[in-house]
Amino acid sequence: MDKFVVYGGNRLEGSVKISGSKNSVLPIMAATLLASGTFEIENVPDLRDVATMSHLLRIIGAEVIFKENKLIINTERCSFFEAPYELVKTMRASIYVLGPLMGRFGRGKISYPGGCALGPRPIDLHLKAMETLGAQIDLEGGYIIAKGDKLKGAEINFPISSVGATGNTLMAAVLAEGTTVLTNAAIEPEIVALEEFLVDMGAKIEGIGKRKITITGVNKLSPIKKSVIPDRIEAGTFMVAGAITGGNIEIQNVDVRHITNIIDNLEKTGTKIRVKDNSLIIEAPDRIQPVSVKTEAYPGFPTDMQAQWIALMSIADGTSTVIETIFLNRFNHVSELKRIGARIDMDGNKALVTGVKELKGAPVMSSDLRASASLILAALVAKGRTDISRIYHIDRGYEKIEKKLRSLGAEITRTEGSL
Ligand code: EPU
Repeated sequence: MDKFVVYGGNRLEGSVKISGSKNSVLPIMAATLLASGTFEIENVPDLRDVATMSHLLRIIGAEVIFKENKLIINTERCSFFEAPYELVKTMRASIYVLGPLMGRFGRGKISYPGGCALGPRPIDLHLKAMETLGAQIDLEGGYIIAKGDKLKGAEINFPISSVGATGNTLMAAVLAEGTTVLTNAAIEPEIVALEEFLVDMGAKIEGIGKRKITITGVNKLSPIKKSVIPDRIEAGTFMVAGAITGGNIEIQNVDVRHITNIIDNLEKTGTKIRVKDNSLIIEAPDRIQPVSVKTEAYPGFPTDMQAQWIALMSIADGTSTVIETIFLNRFNHVSELKRIGARIDMDGNKALVTGVKELKGAPVMSSDLRASASLILAALVAKGRTDISRIYHIDRGYEKIEKKLRSLGAEITRTEGSL
């Protein structure tokens, strides 16, 4: 299994380009199942999750070609409406095919997603919404069996804001008979991008980007050509990489509107941030000031940046708290960060981080995607060598991260490891 070897201490300089968004391209790929024909999707990141979703679409019967960050998906011959266990267990976002399969074909068999490194991740809201639209849902042999020849529009109020449940319900409702009204829908940029993708395909959606969305079902949707939005979490991770290493970097291809919360908090650390069109220039202060954050649904501080923020706070000049409210147990990185000298005390879903002057390299292990990113960030500033094992997690969601970091002057290499 591959690992990263990082020698910390280099100040990052230069410019880096952000890739297309993982969490936007995955539901968009699923949405291609809603129409018959050929889609072209550009600015697609070369990631393991994109390969997994491509594999899933091929199982369903689509032809999928990925070349030079472009996906060509032909959905004319879809005839097998199943997401098998082997794929769902490696990528929970496979559940995104449920809505489109129900919308276009009136049936789907999806392996029930099991445990996750982030803690419990129920899908009750997805299933309840499908039932409200008229689907019959059964569980058999670890599979969700969904049936419902023609879904019917309904009113659905989500008790909590869920990106996945909103996306899935939208995709089921666009071809349902009549009107569906979603309240307390998620408003993350990836949901807005999905809404825009569906509208371009011919869907009738009012209230794009709002908590209340009205969908009027149509009979047919058409294939389109579209580009994926920039990855706001990759951008945030590189912003922290610039700040944590005392660096001065330019981050290109960002949508500044999607990262205002990260920008505001990073500025409070003393980091100077200049916005130039769709680029950011990050200039780190002599010492990072402590800034407490609490994760929240968009536009709050993203849970997908929590691990990276704890890494940054580990070297701050003082104490901060980082509270996780979305995935209460998402703290796998904490014990590994402590191995490289971070001082973190946990109290339930609250991390109390006491900044230290110096982190010290040590062998550590990745446990999930964003935890891996936080370990890399800490390793970039830790004194000496840090070996990060199980880095397959990072390949799920960061395109060529070590190449990008190396181009900024980091000393990071991918080697074969024994773990
Ligand atoms: N929830 C339920 N029931 C459901 C669905 C969600 O109780 O049926 C709860 C969750 O347990 C959580 C909250 O609702 O407490 C919000 O979860 P959400 O459904 O919004 O998360 P998700 O759709 O499963 C997506 C991203 C995650 C990201 C979260 C939150 C994708 C593929 N995944 O997950 O991304 O953390 O939204 O923003 O878009 C990552 O990229 O590292 C990642 C984990």
